[in-house]
Amino acid sequence: MQRVLIIGATSAIAEAAARRFAARGAAIHLLGRQHARLQAIADDLGTRGARVSIGILDVNDVDEHGQALDAAWTELGGVDVALIAHGTLPDQDACDASVDLALREFETNGTATIALCAALAQRLRAGSTLTAISSVAGDRGRASNYLYGSAKAAVSAYLSGLGQRLRPSGINVLTVKPGFVDTPMTASFQKGPLWATPDRVGRGIVRAIDRRKAVVYLPAFWWAIMYVIRAIPEPIFRRIRL
Ligand SMILES: NC(=O)c1ccc[n+]([C@@H]2O[C@H](COP(=O)([O-])OP(=O)(O)OC[C@H]3O[C@@H](n4cnc5c(N)ncnc54)[C@H](OP(=O)(O)O)[C@@H]3O)[C@@H](O)[C@H]2O)c1
Repeated sequence: MQRVLIIGATSAIAEAAARRFAARGAAIHLLGRQHARLQAIADDLGTRGARVSIGILDVNDVDEHGQALDAAWTELGGVDVALIAHGTLPDQDACDASVDLALREFETNGTATIALCAALAQRLRAGSTLTAISSVAGDRGRASNYLYGSAKAAVSAYLSGLGQRLRPSGINVLTVKPGFVDTPMTASFQKGPLWATPDRVGRGIVRAIDRRKAVVYLPAFWWAIMYVIRAIPEPIFRRIRL
């Protein structure tokens, strides 16, 4: 039975991935900060075939990470897949106006994720997978969301190095880079042809875990889009509004 730990488990993308694991009869431990919402997701996953437990964790309480992970290990008897999915989409203008807010948002989207990866890397064993949801936004800083993008860039770079370090131990590190996904995080955005459903992205995450990939763009066409965006010389990129 696959043992799956999901952090930020109330995320719509995480829930979609969890449903795929549940259909396989996995044991799943959900960590998040809202008990009622976690319980509702756990009940649903239970009806889909999973054995589910929950724990409370606000990822910004870094001092609590160790205890929450230890409880997850006890509950599952070890972890085969760890998926970090929490995140916020900060208002860039508000972050420009408040250094405190900018640093808090960086902490949630960057520092907390890196702290969790470091703690998970100490616990995971050969054959397991450590996955975190970064973003295409981390591939290049854009005027509209560079605080979020810089936190995701830090996560992507950290995972790249961690993946190199852990490869000889048989632990795979997977960086997930979604494009636009229709979730509560993006509820106020106008949707268009580039948008994907959480289910499509959740399916892609589980497939990439199964295939022990290092990086996955979801949907896959974002790889081509970001290839072009990364190739634009900085002096030209600076004149574009994205
Ligand atoms: N949606 C997109 O277009 C998109 C694109 C690229 C990458 N991503 C990334 O995908 C991941 C999942 O996001 P989503 O799209 O599924 O959005 P979502 O449904 O809004 O999920 C985000 C989740 O993060 C949780 N969270 C935020 N701060 C937290 C904290 N301090 N402690 C614990 N949990 C916290 C939220 O929990 P609460 O329920 O308690 O608020 C929420 O469940 C994020 O890392 C996001 O950056 C999303």
